Amino acid sequence: MAAKQTVLLLGATGETGSSILEGLLEANQFNVEILVRPSSAEKPAVKKIVSRGVRLRVAELGAPADELAKVLSGVDILVSAIGPQDCLQQKVLVKAAKDANVERFVPCAFITIAPPKGVMLLRDEKEEVYNEIKRLALNHTIIDVGYWHQISFPRVPSGRVDYATVIMDNTIHADGNAPNILTDLRDIGRFVARIITDERTLNKYVYTWGDVLTENEIFSIVEELSGEKIEKNYVSAETIEKQAQDAAAELSQNPQDPSKRYPAYISQYQYSKYVRQDNRPWYAKFLGYLDARELYPDFKPISFRECVQEALDGKGRRPYSG
Ligand SMILES: NC(=O)c1ccc[n+]([C@@H]2O[C@H](COP(=O)([O-])OP(=O)(O)OC[C@H]3O[C@@H](n4cnc5c(N)ncnc54)[C@H](OP(=O)(O)O)[C@@H]3O)[C@@H](O)[C@H]2O)c1
Repeated sequence: MAAKQTVLLLGATGETGSSILEGLLEANQFNVEILVRPSSAEKPAVKKIVSRGVRLRVAELGAPADELAKVLSGVDILVSAIGPQDCLQQKVLVKAAKDANVERFVPCAFITIAPPKGVMLLRDEKEEVYNEIKRLALNHTIIDVGYWHQISFPRVPSGRVDYATVIMDNTIHADGNAPNILTDLRDIGRFVARIITDERTLNKYVYTWGDVLTENEIFSIVEELSGEKIEKNYVSAETIEKQAQDAAAELSQNPQDPSKRYPAYISQYQYSKYVRQDNRPWYAKFLGYLDARELYPDFKPISFRECVQEALDGKGRRPYSG
């Protein structure tokens, strides 16, 4: 029997990383290890993962590439789910992965479909990493997931999903008719486990999805399942575009200020998703993405309806609550 491939996961304690960790372990076909920075090595969340038999490698991403290459020794597949603020720190990992003969690098993508430059700062920064990967001809796969189900459903008047939702203002953006690719956070890892061993996805972009829904459809589903009427707020396309421009201008005054980065990320997501309507299958295919559901027709994703029903039943979980 062939030896199991070693998959090293960066960001395993995060929301996306936790899903990927579970997906990799559930697949039961990899030797799963995690890469953690020194300041986090003693965190309870890391210890908990290690207690499940997952090997820990510790390194500072700011270390020279030759030191990092030693840390990556023996790794077949490197998967990164680093947080949005830290994406550029992966650049040095690219050189290290190349030097360590990593067979495939999955850099941290895991966002909505968007053009490679000029619409979303988050995408622009990730793309800088992709460009470094291409410059060094490192085998890779870029996986985007649309928006998570878990951050896409509105509140209901009774307040019974407040514990699980991050949306507090129940806004419909523009006319509410932009289709959006959605994936349940828990499915990301299950998709990743399949994609990373698939020859068809080597050096390709892939998008995953559970549903493609407009905001009007999302609100209708939540109203239907809850039996409650939701009061909606509307924001125009012009206002969304202006908010994105204003947030970018604010950020340009102090590009490293996290309090300025998050408003820019959020308003650019909204502009991209609802005004430009980038986060949809047609545009993904235009950009050259493969559709994970076409690659894996037997994959049964968790539907948006199921996720909402769980929240209504008191079985949901608000992301980042840990
Ligand atoms: N599609 C969507 O709807 C959606 C939603 C949210 C996020 N995302 C994307 O998903 C990606 C992951 O975000 P997330 O929100 O899931 O992450 P997160 O929960 O904030 O977790 C970030 C992870 O990265 C690790 N990390 C951060 N900086 C590091 C460094 N310098 N060295 C080593 N480890 C570091 C953290 O470990 P420590 O314990 O050391 O801090 C943590 O494990 C992001 O790039 C974001 O753009 C997508």
